[in-house]
This record gives sequence, structure tokens and C-alpha cells, in this order.
Amino acid sequence: MTLSGEHRPVMLAETMEWLDIQPGQWYVDANLGGGGHTRAILERGGSVVAIDRDREAVLRAEESLLPLFPGRLEILRGNNREISSLVSATGHAVRGILFDLGWSTLQGEDPERGLSFSEEGPLDMRLDADSGPTAGDLLESLPESELERLFSEGDEPLALPIARALVQARREGRLPRTTTALAAFVSGVYYRKGFRRSRRHPATRAFMALRIRVNGEYENLEDSLAGSRTLLEASGGRLIVLSFHSGEDRIVKRRFRSWVSDGGAEFLFRRSIAPGEVEVSENPRARSARMRGVLLVPR
Ligand SMILES: C[S@@+](CC[C@H](N)C(=O)[O-])C[C@H]1O[C@@H](n2cnc3c(N)ncnc32)[C@H](O)[C@@H]1O
Repeated sequence: MTLSGEHRPVMLAETMEWLDIQPGQWYVDANLGGGGHTRAILERGGSVVAIDRDREAVLRAEESLLPLFPGRLEILRGNNREISSLVSATGHAVRGILFDLGWSTLQGEDPERGLSFSEEGPLDMRLDADSGPTAGDLLESLPESELERLFSEGDEPLALPIARALVQARREGRLPRTTTALAAFVSGVYYRKGFRRSRRHPATRAFMALRIRVNGEYENLEDSLAGSRTLLEASGGRLIVLSFHSGEDRIVKRRFRSWVSDGGAEFLFRRSIAPGEVEVSENPRARSARMRGVLLVPR
């Protein structure tokens, strides 16, 4: 396996432009990851409260970034659904917040985390290795109707046949135990349903659905957007979100629309912004990124 050892920050120029970084002001990077966006804010003179639930991401940034920007960077390990209390406890008034949702290349390339089906690994999928059940635990325990719902929430078209086949396999003691075994299992369901060819791997959506449920991603996003509004509405400020699939983008779009219609926010730009062709050709992971942004109006 080749580890690239880095995560390329997505839409870096666009996020910095729309956050409108001002030297001496504090910003929140709610998804520290490999630290690319945090570093860019710091290099523009801003100060950053950076949050990640992944212990390794936090340790890496503490080693690499903290010594370079003394007094201007605070790194917190936690779930960004608690952004309001985490950031309030630092005592900094923040002028902008950035979300870069999902997982980093560093996490995706680590087979032990079980996020990718191209490498053999355990069915774990937790971004925070210290909390909650793993994907394997869910496959072991959820009833068929819940498994179907889980896959549907990730827009998996064969949610019911996959859930049914998994429950059958569980009864017969042949539940897949690894990433590659699960990918082959889901491909088998597709094949039996008459799907012979597709542009992407048939297990793509099933894996995404499991990751979303294991990490409570939709609930986290709802809560973290609400918490961000609480933080920013006191003195006004910008909220920028990068999402990577339609389920996330739908939540952000609805929430921003409702804030604008209740007079609490203004759109920075009306439609979502996608990465440019050059970025997508250099970093295929950026392809599905969509950026949305609002300005919270002070109350
Ligand atoms: C796409 S990466 C961020 C990459 C980063 N912006 C960069 O340029 O290097 C997403 C990060 O968010 C973290 N994460 C995901 N959900 C989270 C949550 N609810 N709370 C805190 N961190 C979360 C993941 O562990 C991962 O490190």
C-alpha cells in the first residue's frame, strides 16, 4: 500500500477568500484533519481554534503547527457538534467558521480504520477510535428494517436487497468481517439483481452509508450548524461549509435558507460553488466538493 502521507486541502483559495481572513482575528476550523486550511488561515495572519475528533489528527497538528504559530493556535480534540461550548470555553470571539466535512486522505488511506474497500481492513469506520459502535457491530446487531434505513440514508438504491442479504448471511454465520469481504458481498447483490457494469464500484454508497451512521454525521452536522449560528450571531461573522455528497449538502442548503428567511443571515453567494477544473484534475477527491456560505447578521 502507498500512503501519500498528506491531505490536500480542498478549495483552499475559495475558502480563504470567502472567510475573508483578517490579521489578528480568530477563526474556527471545525475539521482540522491534515491542518491545510488551519495553516492557510495562520499564514494570512489569522488566529485559529481548530477542532477534530480524531486523536491522531490532533497529535499531528500539535507537533507540526503549534510550535510555528505560538499564541495564535488552539487545538481541541472533540466533536464539532459541541462547537458552541468548545469555542466559548476558549474565551475568543470568532469572526468566521469553516467546516470541511467527512474524512481526510490520511484516514482513508489507513486500512486499520476500514474506511476504504480497496484495502483489506476491519469493518471499523470510526473517525474517533474511542467512541461508539463500529460498522461491524452495526451489521451484527441491527434488524433488517434498520439496516435498510441506514443504507437508504446514504442514497443506496439497493438498500432493501443488501439489508436482506446481510441478515440472511448473519443467520447462516457468513457475515462479511472485512472491508474487502463486504465490498465483494455488496457487489454480489448488485450482480444478482442484474447490474453488470457501473462507473463506480457497487459498494461505494453502502460504505458511505455505514460511515455516515457509525459517525452520526447527519446529526453532528445539524447540531454543529446550530452551534455555529450561536457563536457568530453575537457580533456577526461568516460561516463556510464544504460538503462532499448530496445528503450533507441538502442539510446545509436547508439550514442556510431558513436562516436567511428568518432574517438571521445573508447569503454570501446564492448557489453552491464547485472546485475549478484544474483543482479537480490535480486532486480527484475535490470533484464532489460543494461550498456554501452565509454571513450571520448580528442580533
Ligand atoms: C476532510 S477532513 C479535513 C481536512 C482539513 N481541512 C485539511 O485541509 O487538512 C475532515 C476531518 O474532520 C474530522 N471530523 C469529522 N467529523 C467530525 C466531527 N463531528 N467533529 C470533529 N471532527 C470531525 C475528521 O476526523 C477529519 O480529520
